[in-house]
Amino acid sequence: MSNIDIEKYFKPDLNQARKRSKKAIEELQFNLSDAHYKIGVDKTYMIDTYGCQGNEADSETMAGILELMGFTKALSEDNADVIILNTCAIRENAENRIWGELGRLKAYKRQNPNLILGLAGCMAQEENVVERVMKKYQHVDIIFGTHNIYKLPEYIETAMFAKERVIEVYSQEGDIIENLPKVRTHKFKAWVNIMFGCDEFCTYCIVPYTRGKERSRSKEEIILEVNELVHQGYKEVTLLGQNVNAYGKDFKDKNYTFGDLLRDLDQTGIERIRFTTSHPHDLDRKTMEAMRDSKHVMPFFHLPVQSGSNPVLKKMNRHYTKESYLKVLNELKSTVPGIAVTTDIIVGFPTETEADFLETLDLVEKAEFEGAFTFVFSKREGTPAASFEDDTPEEIKKQRLYILNERVNQGYLKGNERFVGKIVKVLVDGVSKYDDEVLAGYTEHNKLVNFKGEPSLIGQIVNVRVTLAKTWFLMGELS
Ligand code: 5AD
Ligand code: SF4
Repeated sequence: MSNIDIEKYFKPDLNQARKRSKKAIEELQFNLSDAHYKIGVDKTYMIDTYGCQGNEADSETMAGILELMGFTKALSEDNADVIILNTCAIRENAENRIWGELGRLKAYKRQNPNLILGLAGCMAQEENVVERVMKKYQHVDIIFGTHNIYKLPEYIETAMFAKERVIEVYSQEGDIIENLPKVRTHKFKAWVNIMFGCDEFCTYCIVPYTRGKERSRSKEEIILEVNELVHQGYKEVTLLGQNVNAYGKDFKDKNYTFGDLLRDLDQTGIERIRFTTSHPHDLDRKTMEAMRDSKHVMPFFHLPVQSGSNPVLKKMNRHYTKESYLKVLNELKSTVPGIAVTTDIIVGFPTETEADFLETLDLVEKAEFEGAFTFVFSKREGTPAASFEDDTPEEIKKQRLYILNERVNQGYLKGNERFVGKIVKVLVDGVSKYDDEVLAGYTEHNKLVNFKGEPSLIGQIVNVRVTLAKTWFLMGELS
């Protein structure tokens, strides 16, 4: 890997981030240079992660790099030598929490002036955030973005020894870096990135700006990673990408897409394959058939719809209509019988009328979702929707969210009820939060089940007979 000199104050620019370069993406291998081994010996780190699974996976990489440098995980913030906030920019309330956290950490810095405080992730990709941190949060030592995590050792070295502030955020993506070390949070469930970035540019969404253009990892690297996980005893992988259905569409020299990858991964011996997240417009027949034919791809699909109103979908730049979404959904359900489908929905998008909202409720009923993440539209600076006229009062938006959630909850319950009396396969996650004699785990359809059992079952797949369905979970007994 080329060793570019650290350029101080390399700040993000959303206009640059919007551009999509034609440059071919290369695959580079991560190597820790000799100078960076041992920097962290006798020192500790802590990473606070916010947001999506993509961030959780990135934090595992940061932890991997820090441990390779000799750092060990701190037991608490009190005794950490390095604290990194891996941030989320998807909605304003996510950012507000992080501002609060940054303020709180000031006290730690006063207590321990040698503490290195880092700000990473999607918020670091935003111009206005970096400006504000530079002016008002002088106690932050390092700001780095989503495209240069692999350079963390250089940044730590500069902050620690040269005592200089490092601000290095690239507005555009670079190459794909392989061979990155990871400290995985779970012992039997793993995240596997299959692609990075997003080219969809939904008008409300900041992600295409913070994560860059779509780049797919090579199938060889992905299969290698999953094979290693099988070898280490992992039972489940979740394939990650902003739009996994677009996997491989950026390959210039081969025709290999998401359905092909599912078929190949099905042969690796991993017990369970999941993936997130998808775009309806890229979901193809090949993927549905691969799911139908695979033994290990789970019968679960998270298929964000965002709205049921055609004018709103158009303004969101989603490239489908209510009718075409339902058509794809029905095709998926008939190809993979019994599949559980969940979704994401935004209410209060600029110009959304009562009639538009009723279309969303109608879609929720027709689609029979078994769960949904629901949000009130949040204005993201730099996205097209931030300048759309928005005359719906906040109070009405909150009411719509409330009504929507009531409907969605009926879907959760119905989705759970269909398993009562059946025997389901559960990957045991751990002991229940509420009762230490009770185990908790997820079924193939991604339903949470509680049942009595020995902790020795944690990490195993067991048969459970479902006895009761509640809105948020199932109760059962070992069978
Ligand atoms: N406001 C509200 N919700 C949003 N999402 C993305 N951007 C916004 C925004 N600006 C939601 C979408 C997406 C999920 C990850 O977050 O529903 O699918
Ligand atoms: Fe955002 Fe749309 Fe890309 Fe999802 S598909 S990350 S909502 S731009």
